[in-house]
Amino acid sequence: MAKRLDLKDLNIYYSAFHAVKDVSLDVPPRSITAFIGPSGCGKSTVLRTLNRMHEVTPGARVEGKVLLDGEDIYGRSVDPVSVRSTIGMVFQRPNPFPTMSIRDNVVAGLKLQGLRNKKELDEVAERSLRGANLWEEVKDRLGKPGGGLSGGQQQRLCIARAIAVSPEVLLMDEPCSALDPISTLAIEDLITELKKDYTIVIVTHNMQQAARVSDQTAFFNLAATGKPGQLIEVNDTETMFSNPEQRATEDYISGRFG
Ligand SMILES: Nc1ncnc2c1ncn2[C@@H]1O[C@H](COP(=O)(O)OP(=O)(O)OP(=O)(O)O)[C@@H](O)[C@H]1O
Ligand SMILES: [Mg+2]
Repeated sequence: MAKRLDLKDLNIYYSAFHAVKDVSLDVPPRSITAFIGPSGCGKSTVLRTLNRMHEVTPGARVEGKVLLDGEDIYGRSVDPVSVRSTIGMVFQRPNPFPTMSIRDNVVAGLKLQGLRNKKELDEVAERSLRGANLWEEVKDRLGKPGGGLSGGQQQRLCIARAIAVSPEVLLMDEPCSALDPISTLAIEDLITELKKDYTIVIVTHNMQQAARVSDQTAFFNLAATGKPGQLIEVNDTETMFSNPEQRATEDYISGRFG
């Protein structure tokens, strides 16, 4: 099976604190992988090591490898900034630049990369907003501030911003947790649609969401407070939710946890 991302023996630290231990897992191209597990088990931490956002925290460190199409993103000659445009991220709370226009929010990353041609930027803005299923709602107010959109629209704006730089992988950390059920379903439809072009890893606390959108699910757990989080089981989503291998997984997904 082809691997787009290949996590090999990841051990992740915040200074002396060993947050997550021994994570190994593959992510096939054009698939959706869901990370589930109780609060504090390290889902966001693992996600942030996949595009080198983890090391932005002072004292944070990673051991092991993350291969993107066979190349180690932690390789000596690799520029973390280029990793972050190849492997984009969407956060839990929509975080558009609030006073910047909708159009400029979408193309902010491309401008940072030095693209200045207005026509090209307009084209990318339209394509990305269409890709994020937001174009029809905003096409008549592209010059208005991004902060003036609803929560669900802002999250789609952030997805448009992430796809504008043509990433290969999209990481999403609880992208629907600040949204109402209708916006949540709109984002889920969009994620399913995006799978045609992108490889997606999504963290979610919502079991139904993991079951609805993902192809593969990874369950993380904590042995005890203060101990590192660990990957308990990774499996195709259908098996995970119908016939999990581990007792802990079954307890968690059926709500008998803790
Ligand atoms: N910046 C940080 N500095 C020190 N420790 C941190 C930092 N961020 C997270 N941690 C610790 O690392 C562990 C894993 O945290 P993480 O945020 O990855 O959990 P999570 O599974 O995403 O939880 P949640 O479901 O609540 O978002 C926790 O013990 C947390 O307190
Ligand atoms: Mg988290």
